[in-house]
Amino acid sequence: MRGMKTGYVFLAIFSLLLFASAAQAQGILGTKHNLTATGTGTVKSSTPDGAGGPEVCVFCHTPHGSDTTVEAPLWNRAVNVSGYTMYTSPSLDGTVDAQPTGVSVACLSCHDGTIALDALRNLPGSGSYTNTPAATGTSAWTFVGGTGTGNKYMPATAITNLGMDLRNDHPISIDYASAMSPSATSGVNDHATGFKSPGVINPTADTYFTNGIKLSAGKVQCNSCHDPHRSDNATFLRINNSGAGNQQSAVCLTCHKKDG
Ligand code: HEC
Ligand code: HEC
Ligand code: HEC
Ligand code: HEC
Repeated sequence: MRGMKTGYVFLAIFSLLLFASAAQAQGILGTKHNLTATGTGTVKSSTPDGAGGPEVCVFCHTPHGSDTTVEAPLWNRAVNVSGYTMYTSPSLDGTVDAQPTGVSVACLSCHDGTIALDALRNLPGSGSYTNTPAATGTSAWTFVGGTGTGNKYMPATAITNLGMDLRNDHPISIDYASAMSPSATSGVNDHATGFKSPGVINPTADTYFTNGIKLSAGKVQCNSCHDPHRSDNATFLRINNSGAGNQQSAVCLTCHKKDG
């Protein structure tokens, strides 16, 4: 009896371990950024994988013929470069670009809800390339979970559809070194007290805080907090924002010195 129980416990632990390692090994395949038919999210292609169906990386990258004007590497998607309303507030003092820049442009190519998921330059296989991909899509694939013609756009009312009005989103494309935030204890409106320093900020490449949050060419962009391939933290975050104890809001406290 006792041996049997131990056996069950062992089995339970063993299957937990198996499950954990499977989940870890999944990587992007186990995230909402797997838009192939066998993806785990609700928004994805309904055209079967293989045989004319999409591939996981193709929704964002192509090995050839990428858009070099977009900062995200080997970018395969149509993008918007105008028409956004940027964040503003009476207390904002950092310099915000007039329109999104950097990798944020790439994220918004799906997340602003105006460009089809399959608005791609280079579809899988031979000979279907265009350097002017239509925002309405370039494939014969069908989708589920999205909205609009062929369900090819981000779901209309979901929070994942940021829209083009970015005033209700954390500022992006903002120069970190120019931002200020008075701290309640210091009462002084200077960068050193309001914000933490990652050390010397590289103006043309990524600068990482020690925990992995980063500035991109000195700016806060979508990829400062998120890594679109990550499956270990919720919502593609670079670090866990909701763990126990002093890990709570760890993303925010990487930059903001809110010491009350
Ligand atoms: C949903 C869009 C998306 C998908 C799908 C995607 N990527 Fe990316 N990838 C990006 C973006 C955006 C960046 C830029 C990230 C940054 O600079 O912080 C990037 C950067 C990269 C980089 C360079 C930086 C790094 O993180 O190493 C590599 C390599 C890469 N992707 C490979 C892949 C491969 C391989 C796949 C498929 C298995 C894939 N990506 C799928 C969006 C995507
Ligand atoms: C190819 C289109 C595409 C691109 C490009 C893309 N995403 Fe997504 N993303 C999606 C879809 C589709 C979902 C799922 C939406 C839903 O279910 O409401 C999603 C979901 C998310 C989520 C929510 C994840 C969750 O678990 O709830 C985050 C966070 C996110 N994306 C961030 C980003 C960031 C940051 C970038 C750029 C680095 C990016 N995405 C680029 C298509 C994209
Ligand atoms: C300063 C950090 C930061 C920046 C910059 C940032 N995000 Fe996020 N984002 C977060 C955090 C933290 C969450 C998790 C919120 C939660 O748990 O509800 C999140 C959640 C999300 C979600 C999922 C929302 C939900 O509740 O399901 C999406 C989609 C998303 N971000 C996309 C983006 C895109 C696209 C950009 C750039 C335009 C961006 N984020 C910029 C920190 C950031
Ligand atoms: C990568 C660094 C970074 C991270 C991470 C970050 N922020 Fe920020 N945040 C900034 C910068 C820079 C500004 C612009 C401040 C300014 O110029 O006044 C800002 C602005 C803000 C503002 C608006 C300030 C204003 O005056 O309008 C709020 C509120 C805020 N952040 C909250 C958060 C929260 C909550 C989180 C975590 C989910 C977070 N931030 C994560 C860098 C960051």
